[in-house]
Amino acid sequence: MSASFTFEPPQFRTIVEPFRIRSVEPIHFTTPAERIAALEAAGHNPFLLRAEQVLIDLLTDSGTGAMSSRQWAGMIASDESYAGAASFYRFEAAVKDITGLKHVIPTHQGRAAEHILFAASLKPGMVVPSNTHFDTTRANVEVQGGEALDLVIAEGRQPQTIHPFKGNIDLDRLRETIETLGVEQIPFVMLTVTNNSGGGQPVSMANIRAASELAHSYGLPLILDACRFAENAWFIHEREEGYADKQPIEIAREMFSYADGCTMSAKKDGMANIGGFLALNDDDLALQCRNLEILTEGFPTYGGMAGYDLEAVAQGLYEALEPDYLRYRIRSIAYLGEKLTAAGIPIVQPTGGHALYIDARSMLPHIPVTQYPAWALNNALYVVGGVRGVEIGSIMFGMQPDGSEKPAAMELVRLAFPRRVYTQSHVDYLAEVAIAVYEQRERVPGYKIVWQAPTLRHFTVRMAPVG
Ligand code: F0G
Repeated sequence: MSASFTFEPPQFRTIVEPFRIRSVEPIHFTTPAERIAALEAAGHNPFLLRAEQVLIDLLTDSGTGAMSSRQWAGMIASDESYAGAASFYRFEAAVKDITGLKHVIPTHQGRAAEHILFAASLKPGMVVPSNTHFDTTRANVEVQGGEALDLVIAEGRQPQTIHPFKGNIDLDRLRETIETLGVEQIPFVMLTVTNNSGGGQPVSMANIRAASELAHSYGLPLILDACRFAENAWFIHEREEGYADKQPIEIAREMFSYADGCTMSAKKDGMANIGGFLALNDDDLALQCRNLEILTEGFPTYGGMAGYDLEAVAQGLYEALEPDYLRYRIRSIAYLGEKLTAAGIPIVQPTGGHALYIDARSMLPHIPVTQYPAWALNNALYVVGGVRGVEIGSIMFGMQPDGSEKPAAMELVRLAFPRRVYTQSHVDYLAEVAIAVYEQRERVPGYKIVWQAPTLRHFTVRMAPVG
């Protein structure tokens, strides 16, 4: 049989979602009046809304993804033994295969890995340099009496500046920091890939390698906060010379080869709803961490996870590295970015791996930073369209350890995409909502704090509109 006709294969522009949907979950439509009432009852804090009151939930990409049929199959076949479960060994093998790290310590999520690592290696007064610490990382450093120091390159703090690797650490400042403080004051150097608080921006392989060489030249280990390692690998594949022909898994392996350890939230690029791990090469440190783990997480072959969670992660780590998936994921966010940019909405450029970040300070110049423009914008997106993002600005980062207030480097609203959950029509709708708010931006009010907790205040703060 021959083909019925011959044709030029077209270059299709649409990036098709690389899955079909076999199980669905309804989402809930509300009226503007219902949303205004809901937000008021939640103290004007979207964290305190019920998820059912949200139409498109972009609060976080953490633990909110859809699992694959293969992950579910693994979960059904899990081993729930307390000690030495087969599910643990599958999990451990997957982590070792991708990271090459020697000791794999499972934890129930990323911050548990951070807590154990910092408890084992930080003394009060020590400083942990990083490109940018995420909020839980920073809080876990501070709770041990340490200082979390952000040394991202200058471009990483300029929302509108285009740079392929805005998550890079400033190597000169890193060297200066080590020289000034002395190695005794620094337990290790960290790199967050991708740089979540700085716009989901990637770190280049060259920068990871150089940071590793620099740290090692002072005898300091390099630890990756690897939550979004697969997305970082994709950006290296797309943007860094010499990597276009490499598979994401090979790139990931190279990234980890420069590190002496990592903390991981498997709720991101582990494609699971819960889980995480700490992986380390140092035998003594690993021993200490395992002992701490038993106190808070559980026996070292389950570490706060069920056997089925270990299975979901073991499979998910590989699925996160599939090129078709990564192409669709990164493209979805870039697509939204193009629509918003065309409408004049200022966003962090270029768009990041897991999220799009709107630059609220530029979009709402009538709201002073003391009235939290990113908080205000996020609430407006909810009221107008039932969309929930998250403020990454002065409510999240403005409170200093001594209780004083200092504006954050940027006032951003992060729209984080759950993995494999939303389709192109959801994204089209999102663009409409953002544009509708933009067209009436002068009407968006600033906010003031009514009540706040002493740490990580954004989760529970109660706010009120000003005026
Ligand atoms: N590191 C980074 C870079 C993160 O983004 C997160 C979580 C963590 C560590 C902690 O992991 O939640 O499993 O304890 N980020 C989520 C977010 C919460 O919305 O960005 P976890």
